[in-house]
This record gives sequence, structure tokens and C-alpha cells, in this order.
Amino acid sequence: MIKKIEQSLAFLQEKGMGPASIGIVLGTGMYELIAQMTLKKSIAYAEIPHFPEATQEFQKGMLHYGSLGGKKVLVFQGRYHLYEGLSFFEITYFVRIFKALGGKSLLLSNAAGTINLHFKKGSLMLIEDHINLQGGSPLALKGIETLGERFVDMSMPYDLALREKVLSIAAAEKISLYQGVYVAVVGPQLETPAEYRYLKIIGADAVGMSSVPEVIVARQLGLEVLGLSVLTDECDPDHLKPIDIPEIMEMAKKGEKDFIKIVKALVATL
Ligand code: HPA
Repeated sequence: MIKKIEQSLAFLQEKGMGPASIGIVLGTGMYELIAQMTLKKSIAYAEIPHFPEATQEFQKGMLHYGSLGGKKVLVFQGRYHLYEGLSFFEITYFVRIFKALGGKSLLLSNAAGTINLHFKKGSLMLIEDHINLQGGSPLALKGIETLGERFVDMSMPYDLALREKVLSIAAAEKISLYQGVYVAVVGPQLETPAEYRYLKIIGADAVGMSSVPEVIVARQLGLEVLGLSVLTDECDPDHLKPIDIPEIMEMAKKGEKDFIKIVKALVATL
């Protein structure tokens, strides 16, 4: 595992990627931020040794290095999902590479359905905490102790200082920002009405198919984490409509403007 990481790292360094202490992961349909960067270098995930082959049709895998508001950033355009048939290790590999490239702060975005029906689609939710319903862990690996601690603390996975900064940015910019618990499921099928009821009962505010394994690995590596979900659909089990992918993409676009404002302002403080 360490050999693989060293090989990926050597390749990326040779191509002029990094160092950067800030990493940004762009979820489904949220790629506008890249246009606001001063780009130094972009590489397709497919070209990077040991980066898994992604199959998700909505997410083009590219790693960008450059600056945003004068700060060096690595932007991960698109991510890997369990539902692509990849392992927990594969979907979180890029987090280990980010750390190796100098990473300190990891800002994650994702698209999620809102379970909390007080929250409106097209808005953002700051992730306060999460529930892992993906049935496994990226740390449940033979030899994990060579990559970091095994029994990683999860008492506060989402950095409080980063969250407080984001809340004050949102208040200053008059952005409506909810706060809540994100639950990760495997997918790729959406949830049944009974499943949405269950997710509400266990304390989730939003549901999605990503991010949690990345956060677990980030915490193992001592990275500070921020998570923002764009709420793309309202999951009301009593009035559930069939999934509408174009609408989900449209809502992701709607939330993206606020996401960009928040991330730009936050990066300026890091
Ligand atoms: N469920 C799971 N993942 C999702 C949803 C949902 O309702 N919306 C966007 N991602």
C-alpha cells in the first residue's frame, strides 16, 4: 500500500502537482469552482498510477492544481463511489494522496437528499456529524497500521473551527445554510419510503452515497474536514415521487452558487 502511494506521489510531483494544504472535493454537478481557479496543471484520474478507474457517468475524474484567491489548492473534480464496484480502499485512495501532497484541510461537497423536511432542495447543509450505513470501513484492512492508527477517534469528525467560519460567512453573505447529520448509504438505488422513514428515525437529516469513507480516512491522517451537502431532493416518504435525475442536477447547480461563495471566502481564511 505504501509503495503504491509513493508511486502515485512520485508521478504527481514529477508532473508539478502540489504542494497544497487545501483540498476541495467537488461532488455531482458542482464543477463551476474550477473556472474560478488560476490553474497550473490538470490531470485525468485515469492517468495517475493506482487511481482506480471510475465509471460514474455524471462525474468526470480530474485532479486540478492551482490557486484560488491566492491560496494553493488541489481540486478533486469527481470522486469514487462504492456503487461503482470499487473497494473502500480504492474510493479513499485519493485522500491519502492529498495528504502526501501536503494536505491539511479537506473541504468536501456532495449532493444529498433531504430527510429533514424543514430543509429545502437547492439549499446547502453544513455537515455536523455523520452516520456510516455503508456496511464497512476504509480502515478495516490488513496492514492498516502502516498507514496510520487503526482505532481512529470520531468524537468530532467535522472540524469545529472550520464550521464556525462557514456559519459566519453564510450569515455575512445572507446564504441560508442548514446544519445536520449526513447518512451515507451504498446506493446506487435510491431509498424506499420505509428506508427514508428509518433514516429519519435514526437521526439523519440528509442522505447520500459518498463522503463518509473519505472523512474516516481524512481523520486517520489528521486532516481537518469540512463537509457541505447540496440538497437536491426532498425525501418525503408519504409523498415520494419517482427519481428525477435532471432535477437533481438542476438543484445541484442551484446550490452551487452559494457553495462557491462559501468555499472562496473560507479558503481566503486558511
Ligand atoms: N438518496 C441517496 N442519495 C442521494 C439522494 C437520495 O435521495 N439524493 C441525492 N443523492
